[in-house]
Amino acid sequence: MTAKFRIFTAAMLFAGLAAVAEVPVYLDESKPLEERVQDALSRMTTAEKIGIIHAQSKFSAPGVQRLGIPGIWCTDGPHGIRPDVLWDEWEQAGATNDSCVAFPALTCLAATWNPEMSALYGRSIGEEARYRNKDVLLGPGVNINRTPLNGRNFEYMGEDPYLTSQMVAPYIKGVQENGVAACVKHYALNNQELDRDHVNVLVDDRTLHEIYLPGFKAAVVDGGAWSIMPGYNKYDGEHACENPVLLLDILKGDWGFDGVAISDWGAVHNTEKVAPNGLDMEFGSWTNGLNWGASNAYDDYYLAKPYEKLLLEGKLPMSDLDDKAARVLRLIMRTSMNRNKPYGSLNSDEHYAAARKIGGEGIVLLKNEGSLLPVAPDVKKILVVGENAIKMMTVGGGSSSLKVQRELLPLDGIRELASGRGVEVLYERGYVGDVTGEYNGVITGQDLKDPRTAEQLIADAARAAAEADMVIFIGGLNKSDNQDAEGADRKDFALPYNQDAVIEALVAANPKTVVVNLTGNAYSMPWVDSVPAIVQGWYIGSEAGHALADVLFGDVNPSGKLPITFAKSLADYAPHAKADPAMYPGVDGDVHYKEGLDIGYRYTDKLKPGRVNFAFGHGLSYTNFELGKVSLSGDGLGEKGGYTVTVPVSNIGRRKGAEVVQVYVRDLKSSVVRPYKELKAFSKVELAPGQTKAVKLPLDKQAFAFYNPDTKLWTVEPGKFEILVGTSSDNIAARIPVNITEPLTWSDSVR
Ligand code: BGC
Repeated sequence: MTAKFRIFTAAMLFAGLAAVAEVPVYLDESKPLEERVQDALSRMTTAEKIGIIHAQSKFSAPGVQRLGIPGIWCTDGPHGIRPDVLWDEWEQAGATNDSCVAFPALTCLAATWNPEMSALYGRSIGEEARYRNKDVLLGPGVNINRTPLNGRNFEYMGEDPYLTSQMVAPYIKGVQENGVAACVKHYALNNQELDRDHVNVLVDDRTLHEIYLPGFKAAVVDGGAWSIMPGYNKYDGEHACENPVLLLDILKGDWGFDGVAISDWGAVHNTEKVAPNGLDMEFGSWTNGLNWGASNAYDDYYLAKPYEKLLLEGKLPMSDLDDKAARVLRLIMRTSMNRNKPYGSLNSDEHYAAARKIGGEGIVLLKNEGSLLPVAPDVKKILVVGENAIKMMTVGGGSSSLKVQRELLPLDGIRELASGRGVEVLYERGYVGDVTGEYNGVITGQDLKDPRTAEQLIADAARAAAEADMVIFIGGLNKSDNQDAEGADRKDFALPYNQDAVIEALVAANPKTVVVNLTGNAYSMPWVDSVPAIVQGWYIGSEAGHALADVLFGDVNPSGKLPITFAKSLADYAPHAKADPAMYPGVDGDVHYKEGLDIGYRYTDKLKPGRVNFAFGHGLSYTNFELGKVSLSGDGLGEKGGYTVTVPVSNIGRRKGAEVVQVYVRDLKSSVVRPYKELKAFSKVELAPGQTKAVKLPLDKQAFAFYNPDTKLWTVEPGKFEILVGTSSDNIAARIPVNITEPLTWSDSVR
């Protein structure tokens, strides 16, 4: 039978004929997806169903070969397509066709505050995945930046649930246009790497729904994600992969998710718990997903033979297996079995251009006293200092590590642009950080050793600084353990490797010093008042050198805004404010999110002024903008109603540029404690010098609501609110009162 179907289908394809009666329904792409899924399922044995719900190698799962149903191949994610590893080991496969474009890290994408950049990112990385024949892209990540110590924040989209929600959906749609599934991760509450396999998060329901779930909900409901990855951690005593509240009640219940819940690598622990509680596919058991792990263990996976045994003994219901298998079939039909998907492309000029554009839009100009930037025409000699100017940043950091086709280093990008302008660029190291350059067998080949002592390095850099017209320091963190890397957290909030001393010596030697830091996290800045210009550069990927130089020389006018708060000290983040180990890193395995909603600016808004170096939403431009008179239209919230905020924005400077209008909502009187203000709308607008545009920002009922844990309903209480309109969370230009007259409630369920 099978052979006959295959021959018949192939013959039809060659003859260019339409599929007719003899083609089984599941192979007939003109039939509705659900009919095809059920048809395939009805032809499968129990063993075949078991076969498709767990891995057969480090990154693949088999389909049903007897029926001609292909398997799926997964790949990390989320910044580029990971190089191939061996079938059964973490070592490199040594392929020659797996070098990719590294796109900017997701913190940089979030800093664009531009959903169009998310769409471009998703489309581009989806094309790379498709070309490499990958069916599931393990990303994007949407965990909220709770603490700046989390080693993995660079893979996420910042501290704000609304910003994250707006940025994630276009990324997912862009990936999936290619017939490649996005796998949004790490669901949910995976907010620290320290003890990530066991840490048990205790969080109140309101905080869960208002802070930690919206990004995932947007990925599923607005983005239509075809898969999701429950993480390593526990929530309320159960591992995320075995957690019925997260998987059954919320994901598959309230949000109506029809895709596949794919375990993080090695995140499943128990057949009796995982099978009935909503996980659909198991990967990476007995590995840490990074570098160690047993081989050939696939039959022993919790969702393999041990599950089959319990099913056959009647101890677990077959209906659960059918549901899992149907979901996996749906995923296969949406991806590997879809004959109508595009071919994709790899390392294309368009992808490099996308990486450069997104990088340029995400770089944030934090401070620019005396208009030190962009580099002035009379600057003829620039000294660049710092390890991150010469270090490849695409290798390292854990599972997001890449093997790039090329990566333009910041120093080379600066040299390239400077040479066209007759500017001499000299380099001094300043400090030695981490000279290693290897991840999972991908070796940068860079020799970054320097025999000089720390004192000598500083003295040499300061001497050269005194002789330059301008100094550009490029430092920050890197992708080594205990920096911005998976599997461990940072040990403290300061920049490592004595960089503060280097910066202070440079600015003392030459006041025209710009500090550019490449990080995925905030850090302390003891030199913030003495350094005239500061740039937050994130990790930018293959086009780091171009994107940075574009901004430094003014070819790109910066328009990035911070997606995280840069507070003065670690204690200015609520989870660390009391130095309570129960809040971080946890006691006896429990981490208690006692700070509730007080994440990022929701907490610093309550502090005395001066506790923040650079606020959430902050970012400067080389031009100036002015907001005109803000008006509010609309007459209530109602079922489909809402308000529209209209803001005229003018470019009153001399360069073309883009501004992000931000709308925060403040509840003046409430029966529950509410944050001082919360971001509820934003829009990026590009303006020529002298141009004015009226920006319209909608506010629906969700913008005024809080989650009531007793009724489990989103709730708007009548009363006075204020709409705060500005260009950063600490630069509010207008406050518009609004009176809500009708109470409203609705459930979180989208069904
Ligand atoms: C990470 C995931 C990743 C997976 C596969 C795990 O260690 O947490 O984000 O997708 O490995 O590499």
